[in-house]
Amino acid sequence: MFENRLPPEPDKILRIMAMFAGDPRTDKVDLGVGVYRSPDGRTPVMAAVKEAERRIWDAQETKSYVGLSGDPAFLDAMRVLILGDAVPAARVAACGTPGGTGAVRQVLEMTRRLSPEATVWISDPTWPNHPAIIDHLSQKRQTFRYYDAATGGIDRDGMFADLARAQAGDLILLHACCHNPTGADLTPQDWEDIAAICEKTGAIPFVDMAYLGFAESLEDDAAGTRLLAARLPEVFIAASCSKNFGLYRERVGVVLVVTGEGGPQAAAFGTLANLNRQNYAFPPDHGARIVQTILGDAALAESWRTELRTMRETMLGNRRMLADALRAETGSDRFGFFAGHRGMFSLCGGDPEQVRILRETHGIYLIGDGRMNVAGLTAATIPQVARALAEVLA
Ligand code: LMR
Repeated sequence: MFENRLPPEPDKILRIMAMFAGDPRTDKVDLGVGVYRSPDGRTPVMAAVKEAERRIWDAQETKSYVGLSGDPAFLDAMRVLILGDAVPAARVAACGTPGGTGAVRQVLEMTRRLSPEATVWISDPTWPNHPAIIDHLSQKRQTFRYYDAATGGIDRDGMFADLARAQAGDLILLHACCHNPTGADLTPQDWEDIAAICEKTGAIPFVDMAYLGFAESLEDDAAGTRLLAARLPEVFIAASCSKNFGLYRERVGVVLVVTGEGGPQAAAFGTLANLNRQNYAFPPDHGARIVQTILGDAALAESWRTELRTMRETMLGNRRMLADALRAETGSDRFGFFAGHRGMFSLCGGDPEQVRILRETHGIYLIGDGRMNVAGLTAATIPQVARALAEVLA
């Protein structure tokens, strides 16, 4: 089967991960894959996670199966974390998945099964795995204008003109917060306007929530998604606990489908469980149990929220320090957008050739489109990165 075949190209994020790992230089700086680093350059296990793991280790007496959709207590805790009281529980079907990518995949598979003609609208640009999965599933996709490189903000006129062309039943894939790769987030007014477009066209919002708590706060970061859920008859959500719980390798994700009460909710729940059965049977439990243990215990939840706030403030601090250092290097506010963006990523504005020079000459690793993980910066590396950016992007 594999004769005359080449291995598929890894996507641009995985390619940079591998290049960084193979670079022997000791002063190299990893600003590629989206992994949080503390000011001392580590990706720590959060204190609440350590304590939850200890409790699970002490109390757990079996590793037998839990349920096809995952543990109901985990699913309920995630529903409350994400949706608050925006919609009654009876309107939400939930399902555990291996990570946020697993959740994205299950929503798209569900759509392909039930509505094969639907087009999935993705922002230009977006996380490369979005179009990759859509293409793998042979679904139709279109891009909508999103980022305006000239301003570092959102091209609203372009975005709303494009989204107005969506048809009933199409999916509009939105980033809940911390837009990947641009860092340019939707405002409360944008969410209102998107809800109005969905009401008018019958398109269904599909929110990818990979960075809840990394932008402003847990509540603010969920507000747009909650607004859609409260206003519209159907909303799909794919959420990840990789970043905000630091559980990357444990693969903790969840799909929430907001439907009408009664029949639709049961049908959505059954469809998601059935897709789990066909794809991997039971979702992983250990990471989900950690999350459930934390969210179900007031003291652990408080510890988690506090550490999450520190992580968010570290990223915001990196953004401000980088913008200041670049202002000092260039004598201009050209890179001021770094301070205004939110989450892990911003597009630095470099083209692929400039990104190559940053990597080969300066040991600074960005994704090929110029995406920088600002969470990978530290006070020690910011001057080096600012000098190199100012020189190479001059
Ligand atoms: C990223 O965008 O770097 C992260 O979400 C990691 C990944 O899986 O691509």
